[in-house]
Amino acid sequence: MKFRSLILAAGKGTRMKSDLPKVLHPLLGRPVVNYILQTVAELGPERIHLVIGHQAELVQSTVEKEQHLVPLDFVLQREQLGTGHAVLQANELLQDFSGILLVLPGDAPLISAATLRGLLDHHQSGGYSATILTTVVDLPTGYGRIIRNPGGDVIGIVEEKDASDEERLIKEINSSIYCFDTPILMECLGEISADNKQGEYYLTDVIKILRQRNYLVGAYVAGDPTEVMGINTRYELAQAGKILWRRKAYELMSEGVTILDPDTAYIHPETQIGPDTIIYPGVMVAENVVIGSGCQVGPFAYLRPGTRLADGVKVGDFVEIKNSVVGTGSKVPHHSYIGDTVIGSGANIGAGTITCNYDGQQKHRTVINDGAFIGSNTNLVAPVTIGQGAYIAAGSTITKDIPDGALGVARSRQVNKEDWAASRKPKS
Ligand code: UD1
Ligand code: CA
Repeated sequence: MKFRSLILAAGKGTRMKSDLPKVLHPLLGRPVVNYILQTVAELGPERIHLVIGHQAELVQSTVEKEQHLVPLDFVLQREQLGTGHAVLQANELLQDFSGILLVLPGDAPLISAATLRGLLDHHQSGGYSATILTTVVDLPTGYGRIIRNPGGDVIGIVEEKDASDEERLIKEINSSIYCFDTPILMECLGEISADNKQGEYYLTDVIKILRQRNYLVGAYVAGDPTEVMGINTRYELAQAGKILWRRKAYELMSEGVTILDPDTAYIHPETQIGPDTIIYPGVMVAENVVIGSGCQVGPFAYLRPGTRLADGVKVGDFVEIKNSVVGTGSKVPHHSYIGDTVIGSGANIGAGTITCNYDGQQKHRTVINDGAFIGSNTNLVAPVTIGQGAYIAAGSTITKDIPDGALGVARSRQVNKEDWAASRKPKS
């Protein structure tokens, strides 16, 4: 199916109360707008036109990085006078395009390609001039409501602020995602006015104009309301994040990973984890992490980019690992920071061990070979290599390599002063 897409991303996002444009706020580390862009790109549109305005340069330079996915054009909306006005800015670009236009807001990151495909199919097979993606929610507050006539046909959309008390009870809402016959959309858009509570040119008003001109308007109801959720506030941003974190947790559980509390598992969507690994509560896993099978992670552990845990590894409570490999069966059970390190297999890292990987200017590597035993509260001042089967006495600050099988002790000898009390000056 030949179609183009128009994504509206010019708004400031006033309700976010932020210097950063709303669509650039990170959601699991990725800008909000990139989600919908990548999902639309999967469907294979001819081109995507992106309407930008508020901090246009910043939005453009962020989104441009996705240009390898699909040809992108940027359209400037100098003043943000509403969603209808935003679409009108693409008038020139769309002049000689007569196909389907899939219009989407930049702030709906959870929409799936399957739902969009369903919308496109419904639009085409029904022969509609416009098809609205709607859904039914328990709490419609903030969304535009879908108005149907007694026969069930969609006759318009009313924004919350302009709705009567009766209309506000309607639970079918506008997702802000539509398919349009492009020339008909452009013809009718010229007719909309800003005569409403917000003084904006609403794209939603085009629906009743289409109806007045006897064009066929359809609706495609999304089964999962969470997919169409728009991000307008930081609370909604957090909610969308929660949904994505949970999706990943459920996916991992279905692949054989035990997660004690999926509500507190913050595992990056691209993480691979082998079966029979147990994730305890309060674990955060960043991008670019691989965890083997039969591992234990947490509670309260933080695995940062570049971490590789082989099979049977234990990472316990209050442990942070970054850019490091931990070999088969090795243990980092409590309160440690491991950075830029390679740990062999069967090693034991005592409680409170810290790799001192940063000298204030550069990062340095630590190598801990197979079967090494690092005593509690050790500082490993990198670059440093601990030999195979080597031991380190608790409380050591290790600055030199330790050969295979040797014991490293790097702390001052304890002195017990028996007569210390007598030598103290009496309190005056
Ligand atoms: C919009 C819909 C509402 C729907 C809701 C779904 C309108 C009038 N209302 O409301 O019916 O239920 O989305 O989430 O369309 N934008 C521009 N230029 C502008 C204004 C907005 O590019 O002048 C962009 C924004 O950046 C945003 C998108 O359009 O990505 C939607 O704008 P927003 O202000 O979030 O609309 P809602 O109030 O959520
Ligand atoms: Ca919105």
